[in-house]
Amino acid sequence: MVNEQQLDLRSLKIPRHVGIIMDGNGRWAQRRGLPRAAGHREGMENLRRVLRACVEFGIPILTVYAFSTENWGRPAQEVRALLTLLERSLRTETAELHKNGVSVRHIGRTDTLAPGLQQGIADAVALTRDNRRLILNVAFSYGGRDEIVHAVQRIMADGISAEQVDEALISRYLYTAGQPDLDLVIRTAGEMRLSNFLIWQAAYAEYYSTPVLWPDFGREELLKALVAYTQRDRRFGLIKEP
Ligand code: IPE
Ligand code: IPE
Ligand code: MG
Repeated sequence: MVNEQQLDLRSLKIPRHVGIIMDGNGRWAQRRGLPRAAGHREGMENLRRVLRACVEFGIPILTVYAFSTENWGRPAQEVRALLTLLERSLRTETAELHKNGVSVRHIGRTDTLAPGLQQGIADAVALTRDNRRLILNVAFSYGGRDEIVHAVQRIMADGISAEQVDEALISRYLYTAGQPDLDLVIRTAGEMRLSNFLIWQAAYAEYYSTPVLWPDFGREELLKALVAYTQRDRRFGLIKEP
């Protein structure tokens, strides 16, 4: 437990960009004898709670991993449930997100999604484009390697010469162009791997893994992650002045 009476929220270091690998929905459902889809629904509910907490703590950019390029290999029924959930959430949540100053962005492959879903995403992005309280990148049909392949293809298509290619240029060709790299990656449900999440942008992120399953990861758990982040010594390969 974080003792909030003793913790001065102003003493927290707030990351500019947080990534969350929202894992453990299936296990959450299994433990209750429910179908996996029920876990995904609960996970979506939890995202609303965590978004509210991000706004409260002043986190400017949040990227959530909702569906990976690898997740397409899951049984068709589960893939369908996840696609339906995204579609429904876009319909029911966008107005509320807009009202709360959230700018919704999509990162990942749009061409793998049905035209209706592509449209739903485009509409939500267009409506919320100028909001600045919180940028929410939704990684859906997203893979870090796929993103880099896509970037290289576009760099070549633009006729960029070898000498012009540097780290800043590659960053500009990623889905997160113009946004700062990740400061903190949170993974729920205990695994200690990136699973192809923002592999370029997380090069120097701090990692935080918790056994708490995503549907149970609320404000208090986010606060614990921020306390851990505040205590980290980020050296970026340098040494401290004596
Ligand atoms: C995370 O929960 C959501 C997605 C990957 C779509 P999982 O569905 O991976 O849940 P577990 O890991 O099986 O518990
Ligand atoms: C990572 O979770 C992807 C998302 C949370 C969307 P997975 O459950 O798919 O990852 P693995 O299989 O544990 O690597
Ligand atoms: Mg999982």
